[in-house]
Amino acid sequence: MITKPLLIQGGRIIDPSQGIDEVGNLVISEGKISRLGSGQASLPGSDYDVLNAEGLIVCPGFIDLHCHLRQPGFEEKETISSGSRAAARGGFTTICCMPNTNPPLDSRATIDYVKSVAASEGAVRVLPIGCISRGRKGKELAEMGELAQAGAIAFSDDGQPLRSSLLMRQAMEYSLAFGLPVIDHCEDTALSEGGQMNEGIIATRLGLCGIPAAAEESIVARDLALAELTGARLHIAHTTTEGSVELIRRAKEKGIRVTAEVTPHHLTLTEEKVLGYNTNAKVNPPLRTKRDIVALIGGLKEGVIDIIATDHAPHTGNDKLSEFALAPFGISGLETALGSLMSLVHAGELTLAMLIAKLTCGPAKIIGTGYGKLGSLETEAPAEVTIFDPNREWLVDTSDFASKGKNTPLNGEKLKGKVMATIYQGKFVYKDESLAIK
Ligand code: DOR
Repeated sequence: MITKPLLIQGGRIIDPSQGIDEVGNLVISEGKISRLGSGQASLPGSDYDVLNAEGLIVCPGFIDLHCHLRQPGFEEKETISSGSRAAARGGFTTICCMPNTNPPLDSRATIDYVKSVAASEGAVRVLPIGCISRGRKGKELAEMGELAQAGAIAFSDDGQPLRSSLLMRQAMEYSLAFGLPVIDHCEDTALSEGGQMNEGIIATRLGLCGIPAAAEESIVARDLALAELTGARLHIAHTTTEGSVELIRRAKEKGIRVTAEVTPHHLTLTEEKVLGYNTNAKVNPPLRTKRDIVALIGGLKEGVIDIIATDHAPHTGNDKLSEFALAPFGISGLETALGSLMSLVHAGELTLAMLIAKLTCGPAKIIGTGYGKLGSLETEAPAEVTIFDPNREWLVDTSDFASKGKNTPLNGEKLKGKVMATIYQGKFVYKDESLAIK
């Protein structure tokens, strides 16, 4: 805990939850946001530390609704400790972990386990997502009531779809009783089976089997129909195609209770990254085309896509060293999220305020109010603050990652926009060494 009050001085404070975008001061005291504004009234009493934030952006800590922490069961890929430290380096103060662990998070015991490891070893808030189906086998529902009671914030079989429309209908009906969303991995496996990358000319050139846009869109369409039928809250994970954006737009127009996310990699990288059989660009759903990216950015701007989530999917070096067809899907994304997303701001595609909204109050709204005021710099809210330099250039070097997952196609690339400090519950959980506190 920061004992003295901390004055974060002269930064550009952007808090979309309150419509704030102004240069000013932010004071943290006793683990809470205590003052925000400019002028004399915004200064703390007498003895305080000062962080000079001139030229920096000061905003609520980022929230990631979708990451894989691999514990229990795959600790060689990631742990709650390493993943949450990677989150802190990426500016995230709340992360929600998917249940495709071993055992999967389909019982009170496994949710309790994640919560207790997170409480003792986590650098930031870790919120577990429970399975939809028992063992993620897609045959029968998990004990959804027990999972909700234990603290699951949503239900998902992410990593694979629910093949049975009937089971999905039942999951949605049950989810209504707990007011929690169903997070949907949309993939028609009859269409995607054997697929390695986006279906198209590059897959043909590389001799790789493709995954068509329709594999995603057919399940988006199915589950929107089921959300309409049941009235349940549906959240579409990792949206990647122009067609999906159009389907979600129409569903929202009809009043269906759907929200959607897009990842930094699907917003900034195309299928060309796979050229050279780069297994670090192998991800599911696959990197798509420029045309899809334009539609995804349009969806973010219009509010059809509500949030940005990393789908941080760490794997070991050996996992990714195999031939393309055998390598697992996934990109390690927590530590490059801001830097890669800032390319959209620098290119004039997204405003800073919109980008921050999609990483803060957007996901906070989906999580709900059970954890206090998340994603906001409101006075008295827990002091969860991200400070970043929008113009600082840095080279991605995976050997510097806190994550065990070095699997990113961005290694060696220059990004413009860097997290300088992350404060979680009033405490620095990450601070760039160049940032001085006086
Ligand atoms: O690329 C992916 N990796 N997509 C998923 O849906 C699952 C994830 C994983 O768990 O590795």
